[in-house]
Amino acid sequence: MKLTNKVAIVTGAGRGLGKGIALKLAAEGAKVVVADVMVDNAAAVVAEIAAAGGKAIAVKANVADKNEVAAMFAKAVAEFGTVDIMVNNAGINRDGQLFKMSDEDWDLVIGVNLTGTFYCTRAAAQIMREKGYGRIVNISSMSWLGNFGQANYAASKAGVVGLTKTAARELAKKGITCNAICPGFIDTDMTRGVPEKVWDIMVGKIAAGRAGSAEELANVVAFLASDEAAYVTGEVINVSGGMVL
Ligand code: NAI
Repeated sequence: MKLTNKVAIVTGAGRGLGKGIALKLAAEGAKVVVADVMVDNAAAVVAEIAAAGGKAIAVKANVADKNEVAAMFAKAVAEFGTVDIMVNNAGINRDGQLFKMSDEDWDLVIGVNLTGTFYCTRAAAQIMREKGYGRIVNISSMSWLGNFGQANYAASKAGVVGLTKTAARELAKKGITCNAICPGFIDTDMTRGVPEKVWDIMVGKIAAGRAGSAEELANVVAFLASDEAAYVTGEVINVSGGMVL
């Protein structure tokens, strides 16, 4: 097991990629704080981890709210003593063309995807600098390069890349790595929300000829979260089955 005795926080871990990541980190021996706005889903993930012999707690936390983020860290430290691994996975989309995008949809997406990642990364860095160890993994998106109908989402995910590279530079000498993962098209509730025609178009772009699974994404997170990845920082890693080559 790669992560024995490490403490991890995974945001947006009640379903989808975050759930897959939480299950994988727990299977690798980490104690996991399963954080989500949908706390019932988080509790179900905790039950699954416990049934498999792992350790986890569920925490209700909206990453866009700095007080809830502070409370989430306080709970993590009270329960498990520290935080070694921060996975910023919580994310939303509110797609629509730029010329008619509402202020609310802009603010909402930037607030969760970018500001939420900032709040959690800052809080994690404070703990990790003290102990001289940490692993931060930010879930960006291949949309960071720009995508039709996703001005808010693409801007938030490009912001996550800039934040990741800055954190990597600032924290490397303290034994902390910070990397971004860009999932391509992974089968989750978020992608199941697209029309069937769009699903087929997206899968048509993938060299592997299929959508990815949460487990396949989680394997890469587990590597970056491990001691084995000590010399990997500031990277942006596509996990996409060859969507862009
Ligand atoms: P999902 O919609 O299935 O799951 C997202 C989870 O985040 C949900 O449990 C939701 O309750 C939670 N969440 C939403 N807002 C939150 C907030 N403010 N605070 C805390 N939790 C919150 O989405 P999925 O597909 O699992 O996506 C996870 C991450 O991966 C997101 O950041 C998304 O942008 C990114 N991503 C996903 C791709 C895919 O193909 N599924 C592709 C590229 C990026």
